[in-house]
Amino acid sequence: MSVPPHGSGAGIPRADFPCDDQGMEFPATDRRVLITGASRGLGRAAAHAFAANGDRVAVHYGTREDDARHTRAALPGSGHVLVGGDLSDPAVAAEVAGRAADGLGGIDVLVNNAAVNVRHPLPGTPYEEWVAVWQQHVSVNLLATAHLSHLAGRRMIDAGNGGRIVNIGSRGAFRGEPDHPAYGATKAAVHALGQSLAVSLAPYGIGVASVAPGFFGTERVADRLSGAEGEAIRAQSPFGRVATPEEIAAAVLWLASPAAEWSSGTVLDLNGASYLRT
Ligand SMILES: NC(=O)c1ccc[n+]([C@@H]2O[C@H](COP(=O)([O-])OP(=O)(O)OC[C@H]3O[C@@H](n4cnc5c(N)ncnc54)[C@H](OP(=O)(O)O)[C@@H]3O)[C@@H](O)[C@H]2O)c1
Repeated sequence: MSVPPHGSGAGIPRADFPCDDQGMEFPATDRRVLITGASRGLGRAAAHAFAANGDRVAVHYGTREDDARHTRAALPGSGHVLVGGDLSDPAVAAEVAGRAADGLGGIDVLVNNAAVNVRHPLPGTPYEEWVAVWQQHVSVNLLATAHLSHLAGRRMIDAGNGGRIVNIGSRGAFRGEPDHPAYGATKAAVHALGQSLAVSLAPYGIGVASVAPGFFGTERVADRLSGAEGEAIRAQSPFGRVATPEEIAAAVLWLASPAAEWSSGTVLDLNGASYLRT
């Protein structure tokens, strides 16, 4: 297969594209889907959404193996697999992608959901801790997303059936995260990575998009939502609530659909009108 030139492809005859989508339709169901960080929270909700759509899911977890087993056991359909591993290690990320592809028979859709979010406001964080927290955020939120995109994207290219990569970004990339600056910065980088890969992978029929959610209710943010801060967080949206993980998962499922090809490169705001970026 010849490698297409970089860029939008403008001026390149369609016949020179390795994937001519006139003759190829990315499937709407029965896809092989790797979802990182699916032990709980949004990853679990996304696993349900894809499984209910008739797809087969590789449920990835970092440390919560029991929760991930529970996620997989509760999925509708059959053929779902479990893959564990610390994605901050690039070698382990490669093993995770390999085991997911072996277990499912390939990867058609990658959802880059796993992330860390540790509080580290600059005024109160000692330098050594600051450095360690930044390194952790960069290795999990950004580098693992980049590495898994390579690992899954190359498999999609080789299979020649097109594909989808959906990155879980954040409203914080635009609005700022004063208490979690490394989180905001790495999510902004994830959005930018999505646009770059959307351009380079389009000739292969692979769409790449990101969602930028505001708050949604998961175990990870339950303490903040039930505590003193909760009322103010809900008031960020004129709907007076935060989203459910299922609302975010529905958008992820759509961005992975054949109908979403023309949305490749997008960063979809899912924040209940709490923040309008310009
Ligand atoms: N909740 C919100 O309000 C909100 C808002 C905007 C964006 N987001 C984004 O949405 C996504 C899901 O958030 P959530 O609230 O559902 O979070 P969560 O429950 O904490 O889930 C995060 C997942 O990432 C995995 N993970 C973390 N570090 C890992 C590592 N080093 N290696 C492998 N896996 C690792 C965890 O695995 P284990 O638990 O198995 O260790 C967990 O399954 C994240 O990308 C988050 O940044 C969340």
